[in-house]
Amino acid sequence: GRAGTQWLIDVDRHSSSAGGAEAEPDGLVFIGKEEDIKKSQRITAKVDGREIVVFYHEGKFHALDSRCYHEGGPLCQGEIEDIDGQACIVCPWHKFKITLETGEGLYEGINPLEPSLTPKWQSKGVKQRIHKVTIDNGNVYVNPPDLSVSFDSDYYADKYKIGGELAMGKQSHSEAAE
Ligand code: FES
Repeated sequence: GRAGTQWLIDVDRHSSSAGGAEAEPDGLVFIGKEEDIKKSQRITAKVDGREIVVFYHEGKFHALDSRCYHEGGPLCQGEIEDIDGQACIVCPWHKFKITLETGEGLYEGINPLEPSLTPKWQSKGVKQRIHKVTIDNGNVYVNPPDLSVSFDSDYYADKYKIGGELAMGKQSHSEAAE
């Protein structure tokens, strides 16, 4: 169903955002046609000035900040892998794995309290901002980000905002601090 009136509450906070995205009347941001994204399997877009990527994977749409929370790698160019039953985007820069569903960073580690020495996939918590996707009438929309909550990926989302254009091909992350 539609998001309906819940977004009216937020309208004032976002009213001055001039990201250049097409804002729909109910506050959602139009990304593209459902059938086009199903065909291409991924699409990048700007939402409130930040680069996001929408994936279509195994029957579901997922939207995330496009710049990896680690050092800003372009997740839109990564491959999707199944890890322990969770679909993950693998960052092309240093191979960090991020779940499409929740934005959690995964790492392989050994729990010293368990007798087995087999590494297991564990979560570092939600690191990458995800965006709620709404399908309406063959169109795909995402919600504008709720900036009252912050995620590690926000740093790079803000950093790459400044360029004003999709910086997919740029590799200019050398000055990034730890
Ligand atoms: S920038 Fe993505 S893994 Fe390092």
